[in-house]
Amino acid sequence: MKIVKIAIDGPAAAGKSTVAQLVAKELNFVYIDTGAMYRAVTVFCLEHNISCQDERKVADALKDIEITLYPDHSISLNGKDVTKEIRQPIVNANVSYIAQNKDVRLFLVKQQRKIAENVSVVMDGRDIGTYVLPDADVKIFQIASVETRAKRRYLENIQKGIPCSLESIQEELKKRDYIDSNRDFAPLKQAEDAIPLDTSNMSIEEVVKEILNIVYKKVGYIHG
Ligand code: DC
Repeated sequence: MKIVKIAIDGPAAAGKSTVAQLVAKELNFVYIDTGAMYRAVTVFCLEHNISCQDERKVADALKDIEITLYPDHSISLNGKDVTKEIRQPIVNANVSYIAQNKDVRLFLVKQQRKIAENVSVVMDGRDIGTYVLPDADVKIFQIASVETRAKRRYLENIQKGIPCSLESIQEELKKRDYIDSNRDFAPLKQAEDAIPLDTSNMSIEEVVKEILNIVYKKVGYIHG
């Protein structure tokens, strides 16, 4: 049975993880949320009063960090479930600094490649098509206007009971996009062979359907 790798990249809150999870479920593939891993490192630093902008200290902390992703999409940090913590506003505000750190990236990319070694995966992030899985069979670059993304993130937060304002989310997304796209190492960038997908005016179901069509066209019928 052929192992198939699907990379879904794009800016923050473009709906990648929702879509990637549904695509993985449909194909019976493993879903890997790489952003959650950067978020877990952020939680560790915040809990240990390590400044997320202090590259050396963050790099030193990596030896004390063990992250595990579970099939139910929960995530643990040194054995503790941090699925909820990683979505808190304080984590949103700091995670881009952590993701700029080359040592952090090398540490997490190694794990991401290992998880994807022998299984069919849908992996979402920023650098999956360009750096983590450059040989992925299908690469999608999922975008949406910053207004659409802010609105989606706002509604998501309200649903989860996380207090927030639409304006501040929009500002933070712009800032995060800027940092993610302008960092030196493995920045957010569309891979040359990625298919761009603007989801501003698409429902989740339409996006999932479109990606599945692309997968079937490129890879053929799939036995998950
Ligand atoms: O997708 P997300 O919002 O959960 O990602 C959190 C942060 O991690 C975001 O600022 C970008 C960064 N990230 C990254 O640099 N590379 C990845 N493969 C995934 C996420």
